[in-house]
Amino acid sequence: VDHLLGIKYLKPEDIDLIFKTADHFKEVINRPIKKVPSLRDITIANLFFENSTRTRLSFELAEKRLSADVINFSAASSSVKKGETLIDTVNNILSMKVDMVVMRHPNPGAGIFLSKHVNASIINAGDGAHEHPTQALLDSYSIREKLGDVRGKKVVIVGDILHSRVALSNIFALKLQGAEVKVCGPKTLLPKHIESLGVEVEMNLKAALEWCDVANMLRVQNERMDISYFPSTREYVKQFGLNKKLLDSLNKEIVVMHPGPINRGVEITSDVADSDHAIILDQVQNGVAVRMAVIYLLASKIKQ
Ligand code: CP
Repeated sequence: VDHLLGIKYLKPEDIDLIFKTADHFKEVINRPIKKVPSLRDITIANLFFENSTRTRLSFELAEKRLSADVINFSAASSSVKKGETLIDTVNNILSMKVDMVVMRHPNPGAGIFLSKHVNASIINAGDGAHEHPTQALLDSYSIREKLGDVRGKKVVIVGDILHSRVALSNIFALKLQGAEVKVCGPKTLLPKHIESLGVEVEMNLKAALEWCDVANMLRVQNERMDISYFPSTREYVKQFGLNKKLLDSLNKEIVVMHPGPINRGVEITSDVADSDHAIILDQVQNGVAVRMAVIYLLASKIKQ
């Protein structure tokens, strides 16, 4: 069975195929009738063990646009609360003739674990601080759409790299496609051996922004934060927050991204998030086409 567990397992040609397929679906969802009948014979379960707005709704919409049957599961209102295990939960759902599982889980590697124990195609919708592959794909797709190509582009990922599955998946995806990547953030929020992934560290935000074509401003993940990780929100904002004054002081135009949800006034101010520099809502819009492509390509393998 084929899965999408992380960008780490993809090759450049896989990303090319996903993007070409997403181009087609982007055209489809801009038509008056936004659906295709491709997956009428496929049933997909969306399992969310952690909160989500964008990813959950985007997957559900992508599945419905492909005419798949969809069931949604939220751990908070399920029998997981009575102590049912992950494998029991998923096997019970699969016994209802489900073909594919989209799963968000707080534990790193949860999707990999599940893929070894159940008979279904698994898509990782975010596993703890590990990977968020469809987010990285929609991010790269949005850079490609805005700047024509990802190859050769300079991308800085700013902020809480340590807790960020978005950062790790983006680093893998961008490097696979031939982009140059730097990370910028407080030392306490940078993983120890980050350079081993082929990225440079730049501690000065202004220098990083002067260097880049694209700045991806990560959310500070307070829910994964130990109080000792960084000095204070006020100091974070001063050193690593992106505001209009800083953006206007640059000698160049840059593209500003954010995976959402935004802590307005922390990693990014509203006058930047809502400006023409930001492609934040384009990222969300592209997420539907990219997820349609991923689901469609995996489903074609189930049908073989
Ligand atoms: N970007 C992202 O994963 O957002 P959600 O947590 O709302 O799904």
